[in-house]
Amino acid sequence: MSTVVILGASSGFGAAAARAFARVGFDIVGVHLDRRAAQPAIDALLAELSATGRQVHFFNQNAADDASRAEIVAKLRELCPPGSVRGLLHSLAFGSLAPFSGPRQVTRKQMEMTLDVMGSSLVYWAQDLVDAGLLGEGGRIWAMTSSGSHMVWPGYGPVSAAKAVLEATCRQLAVELAPKGITTNAILAGVTETPALRKIPGSEALVEKALARNPGGRLTTPEDVADFLVLLAGPGARWVNGNILRVDGGEDIAG
Ligand SMILES: NC(=O)c1ccc[n+]([C@@H]2O[C@H](COP(=O)([O-])OP(=O)(O)OC[C@H]3O[C@@H](n4cnc5c(N)ncnc54)[C@H](O)[C@@H]3O)[C@@H](O)[C@H]2O)c1
Repeated sequence: MSTVVILGASSGFGAAAARAFARVGFDIVGVHLDRRAAQPAIDALLAELSATGRQVHFFNQNAADDASRAEIVAKLRELCPPGSVRGLLHSLAFGSLAPFSGPRQVTRKQMEMTLDVMGSSLVYWAQDLVDAGLLGEGGRIWAMTSSGSHMVWPGYGPVSAAKAVLEATCRQLAVELAPKGITTNAILAGVTETPALRKIPGSEALVEKALARNPGGRLTTPEDVADFLVLLAGPGARWVNGNILRVDGGEDIAG
């Protein structure tokens, strides 16, 4: 019995990954942070996942809160035998989209919250899952980054900084956890229609530019990424460590 822990499981890449992993036989533990209005869609997702016959547990809690994480990890120890967490996916979208200058400029509080939720929170999940003996030999850590980690998009400054933190975190974890047989890779997805994308100021222009640049002639889908994560969970990907893997049809390198 193997489990994949998905931070940000209710929507976008996280939800697609939950579907893809459940389909191929993984149990799913999902963490998400949603208001009541989103519950019907989440119930539908849970029903779909349970219909695969796999064990599915979702927690509507803040993944960046220490007490919530401790509670969820304690529950995981009850649910999962040692070493049975095969994958940890960090796919949290919750950050400030304020510019660095001008009348609506980002505050320290917004900046630090964005860096924490979308960047460094991965460190503490990795620490706790490894220390609990849940993630061990053969384990995989993945984190969602974007072209915005090395490009300037209007209003994306705080998230861009968080992506730099996330990529550095992946690099460090890749080396520190390799002796334990755990690999870590960042996944750079192309522009993808999700609720998080629609919150970026001027996201229509981002979509237009991505469509014009992408040599594949379309946007990335959450399923493009989820299918690749399933491949990365397999034994053939055991030596893939410390990379930023583009899953974007060639969008990032196209002029
Ligand atoms: N959509 C894109 O174009 C794109 C491209 C590349 C990378 N990404 C990255 O992929 C990741 C996921 O984005 P998405 O587009 O799937 O977004 P989304 O809005 O569809 O999903 C975000 C998920 O994060 C959860 N979440 C947010 N804050 C949380 C918190 N504090 N605690 C627990 N759960 C929380 C939400 O409940 C939801 O499940 C983000 O890191 C985003 O930057 C997105």
